[in-house]
Amino acid sequence: MRPAIPAFSDLADALLIAADEALRALSGAATAARPSPGAGASGPERREDRELSGRLMRVNHTGEVCAQALYSGQALVARDPAIRDALKNAASEERDHLAWCRERLGELGSRSSILDPLWYMGSFAWGVASGLAGDRWSLGFLSETEDQVERHLDGHLDRLPEDDRASRAIVLQMREDENRHGATGRALGAQELPEPVKSAMRAAARVMTGTTYWV
Ligand SMILES: [Fe+2]
Ligand SMILES: [Fe+2]
Repeated sequence: MRPAIPAFSDLADALLIAADEALRALSGAATAARPSPGAGASGPERREDRELSGRLMRVNHTGEVCAQALYSGQALVARDPAIRDALKNAASEERDHLAWCRERLGELGSRSSILDPLWYMGSFAWGVASGLAGDRWSLGFLSETEDQVERHLDGHLDRLPEDDRASRAIVLQMREDENRHGATGRALGAQELPEPVKSAMRAAARVMTGTTYWV
């Protein structure tokens, strides 16, 4: 059921929260509630491996920036309070991922992507659009995103240097969390997305991962 049109002050509050979330995600101010799974682990030894890890973790960091934007956009327009709560819970775990990736980038002597603000805006728009389509579609979009991210992280576990134990521990924990986020979305009644939408999402993800690997 659609709620009554929100009062102007409610809308202004919601927009301010969304702006604050954007600033936190993009400025590196997000803090983790859980300690990093990679804390204290060593490696990689070789310079080329550190460079490769830096690139892969930059891609993952941008993915987490996108996750913040998606969840923020979806929560802004979600109709059902139970769904809004589930989105907020998942977003808090995504904040851990963001902070862990950011910290790991610093340890590897790498940096976040210059394209992050662009990806944030695009993902936020996707989040709002899927939220406006209705809660079941919004959850379907979320579950499909989480499934695709999980498969992407599997690929990174194949590519990350064997002795980069810190990055591998972070990616493993992220994969476990994304799996749970996808399952939560399905449990709340996610609608299966049409194949062309899934393909478009995979294509957008390829552009994102392909560009942020380099810049
Ligand atoms: Fe994540
Ligand atoms: Fe997730």
